[in-house]
Amino acid sequence: MLERTPVIIGAVSPRRAVPDSIVRPPYVSGGRIGPGAAQIHDPESLAALREACRIAAEVLIEAAAAVAPGVTTDHIDAVAHAAYIARGAYPSTLGYRGFPKSICTSVNEVICHGIPDDRPLQAGDIVNIDVTAYRSGMHGDTSATVLVGDVEASTAKLVETTRLATLIGIAAIAPGRPLRAIAEAIVPYVDQFGYDIISEYGGHGIGRVFHASPHVNHTIEPRDRALLKPWMSITVEPMITSGVSTFHQGHDGWTEFADDGLPSAQFEHTVVVTDSGVEILTLTSDGRSLVGTLPLP
Ligand code: MF3
Ligand code: CO
Ligand code: CO
Repeated sequence: MLERTPVIIGAVSPRRAVPDSIVRPPYVSGGRIGPGAAQIHDPESLAALREACRIAAEVLIEAAAAVAPGVTTDHIDAVAHAAYIARGAYPSTLGYRGFPKSICTSVNEVICHGIPDDRPLQAGDIVNIDVTAYRSGMHGDTSATVLVGDVEASTAKLVETTRLATLIGIAAIAPGRPLRAIAEAIVPYVDQFGYDIISEYGGHGIGRVFHASPHVNHTIEPRDRALLKPWMSITVEPMITSGVSTFHQGHDGWTEFADDGLPSAQFEHTVVVTDSGVEILTLTSDGRSLVGTLPLP
């Protein structure tokens, strides 16, 4: 098997164009990123959010299907970019706080926010593809970590554990429960494998605004007093490391690298708290997702 070499930041291609007919979020043309109040829906806004989330799930499936040894993350970005546009959606990350691409691609020890570039994927790599679609005034956010060719068993185990941890966290959501219930479900599950969880990045409220309140911790923060409210939309997106959970930023000002260079994985769904439980929104119209769905296996 090929020895895994450290991920090095590569060359980023010119900005991809979006047809004028596709509505942009306000921040793309210098407008506001917020306000970041919790996103609580009525039937009309929930229908719009559902559409954005369905598109995100579909784009993620198309992008992941392009993953293969020798393919660059820039090519995956091109595939995703075309998939958003084919659905009349704007790629929320393109121009968000200066981010230059339509997805994030985080390879191996990259924890999150990797920028698609000219690095060819190698057999044995893992790559998280993070898709956010803006459509009908709403953002839908979903990600999955994909295996490139044959991957070491220990790394594949990290990826599958992270996927299940995401679903286990989602299954703990119900109206009136503390937001902490998500972390309280994820932490003991992940601990038994000796993995660690990133505490500096978490999920977020999402809807009209890309990153809204509340901040969704995936590590237990006893001082977090927030409650899950009916018709609130949030993401669940734990980043889980096989080694240490400390990290440092690359010279591009985005890419976050695990300090020990060991692999890290992430999955993400956008969900809505219902009047009795939770519903996953980032699914295709026939209920599929690379993240998987509830009920738990
Ligand atoms: N999609 C990421 C999230 O899950 C955010 C990416 S912001 C970017 O919240 F600017 F890095 F693209
Ligand atoms: Co997110
Ligand atoms: Co995301």
